[in-house]
Amino acid sequence: MAGQFEGKVVLVTGAGSGIGRASALAFAREGAKVVVVDVDSRGGEETVRLIKESGGDAFFIKTDVSKSAEVQAMVDKTVATFGRLDCAHNNAGVETALKLTADLSEEEWDRLMNINLKGVWLCLKYEIPQMLKQGKGAIVNTASVAGLRGRERRADYVTSKHGVVGLTKVAALDYARNGLRINAVCPGLTRTALVERIFEHSPAVEEESKTRLPIGRLGTPEEIAQAVVWLCSDAASFVTGHAMVVDGGILAK
Ligand SMILES: NC(=O)c1ccc[n+]([C@@H]2O[C@H](COP(=O)([O-])OP(=O)(O)OC[C@H]3O[C@@H](n4cnc5c(N)ncnc54)[C@H](O)[C@@H]3O)[C@@H](O)[C@H]2O)c1
Repeated sequence: MAGQFEGKVVLVTGAGSGIGRASALAFAREGAKVVVVDVDSRGGEETVRLIKESGGDAFFIKTDVSKSAEVQAMVDKTVATFGRLDCAHNNAGVETALKLTADLSEEEWDRLMNINLKGVWLCLKYEIPQMLKQGKGAIVNTASVAGLRGRERRADYVTSKHGVVGLTKVAALDYARNGLRINAVCPGLTRTALVERIFEHSPAVEEESKTRLPIGRLGTPEEIAQAVVWLCSDAASFVTGHAMVVDGGILAK
């Protein structure tokens, strides 16, 4: 399998579904060896099967990105198995409970922050030292358009994604002179299991969403994955600290 990621090792979290799976498959198509990470073994193993079926190389590591010891073990196992780590897509995330700010429970707030924000930081914490050893690396964190603007009834989610954008900028600055590039991708509404769950709870949101989107439809996970692959590629060698919007025009309004 020849491609621009031939010989490279790419780790993708939340790769058992949606955007993460599409990203893992896209990197594999470009020749990367892919480390598929998810808390859900069934989804993760299925992504590995899909990659192998199309001639790629991948293995699954069950990891909860909110647990420090598990994230450290994830990077250790990646290096033990494939010998290196060139790129990472820190993408695992969960949705909000759609509640007014004051109605969120402390447990809901903590759970979402631990996965969506602390989880991304923990991934950076353990990925960066390995990339520094190699002298080069590219990382993309999945934020959201919700990382760049507010949205009603989503205090926890919007806060976590603003945090991911801020964290991405600081990490990019911290390592800009060490060969590391760190960017974020900010998807708009993309048709994945996460969004289907939101539509299930509030069907009116689905219709409203389509009319709200300038392009007239939701994005596909593959369309987000293309941006992630580009940000990790050498074609983006002068791009760091950037929050790339892939949203069908939502933020242009
Ligand atoms: N779908 C959208 O419209 C949209 C828009 C903007 C941003 N995002 C972001 O994109 C990312 C991927 O979302 P998606 O839409 O593909 O959702 P998804 O639910 O299809 O996939 C998310 C994956 O993350 C995994 N995951 C959840 N918690 C985890 C944990 N603690 N450790 C490891 N893995 C965990 C899940 O098991 C799942 O496989 C998320 O960060 C989400 O916030 C999605």
